[in-house]
Amino acid sequence: MEKSRTAEDFSDIGVSRIFLDESISRAYAQHRHCYTEEVFQIISDYCRENLPELNLAIDVGCGPGNSTVGFTKHFKQVIGVDMSEAQIAQAPKNIPNCQFKLGFATNLDFLEPCSVDLVACGMAINLISKPAFYREADRVLKPGGTFAVFGYGAPFCANKQMDDIFKWVYDVAKSHVGEELREVAEKYPGLELPYPGWIKNEDVLITTEGTPEEYMELVNILNQAMIHCGYRDESFLETVKKRMAEVREVLREGTGSDVRNCQMFFPAVIYLAHKPF
Ligand SMILES: C[S@@+](CC[C@H](N)C(=O)[O-])C[C@H]1O[C@@H](n2cnc3c(N)ncnc32)[C@H](O)[C@@H]1O
Repeated sequence: MEKSRTAEDFSDIGVSRIFLDESISRAYAQHRHCYTEEVFQIISDYCRENLPELNLAIDVGCGPGNSTVGFTKHFKQVIGVDMSEAQIAQAPKNIPNCQFKLGFATNLDFLEPCSVDLVACGMAINLISKPAFYREADRVLKPGGTFAVFGYGAPFCANKQMDDIFKWVYDVAKSHVGEELREVAEKYPGLELPYPGWIKNEDVLITTEGTPEEYMELVNILNQAMIHCGYRDESFLETVKKRMAEVREVLREGTGSDVRNCQMFFPAVIYLAHKPF
């Protein structure tokens, strides 16, 4: 049985509040693309350097499970943890070795000390109180276990017009959402993991294909965060829509009524550390 949470539990969650919203969580589940297998492989291989048999992985701030499910191939059991009921509601329910739990990163009290092979955190470290999370991760990790923080920075596009739109969108967003978004867009500059010898891997480029309409949903999610931070420029979304419609026309040329997908590239980052034996 999950513990019921009080308003106080959510009093200091800042911009994360947007993830409590059902429609944002639905859009997030549908339109935030998934990580590629390469990302899960790199993290799991790093775990195997110390622990040949991988039993339990925890994905903290798991959202709708897009950062969680990729671990099920590598670990006997995987648990996604998120503070948002709306996000957890979007997570898959039919994967035998995967479950999702409501909870805060700073209180993983359903886990025994030294019981976890991997504590992972995808695109959420910027939203979480690091000292308290690091203490809790250290409590639950086995000696030799892995702490992994991963995500991707601001995207770029093969299509020059789309690339210009996203550069502009991120510029506007960065100046309104502040530190949390800047950290994500720049792949957590200055982040330090709590164990000596930690490494930063920037080898993976995640490629997605989508239509301007699908990319517009990414902008909508970003816009929600901007609104939460006090941004009130009604013309922002209209401008993006108009510019996307122009791209749409170019992508449709010569294809009849279909719009060609356009590729977008997200530079991934993976921070990895072993808890000392
Ligand atoms: C940007 S989403 C990342 C979702 C997914 N991990 C990914 O990589 O796409 C951030 C998630 O962190 C969750 N979150 C934020 N603060 C949290 C906290 N203190 N404890 C647990 N989850 C938290 C939010 O509810 C949201 O679902």
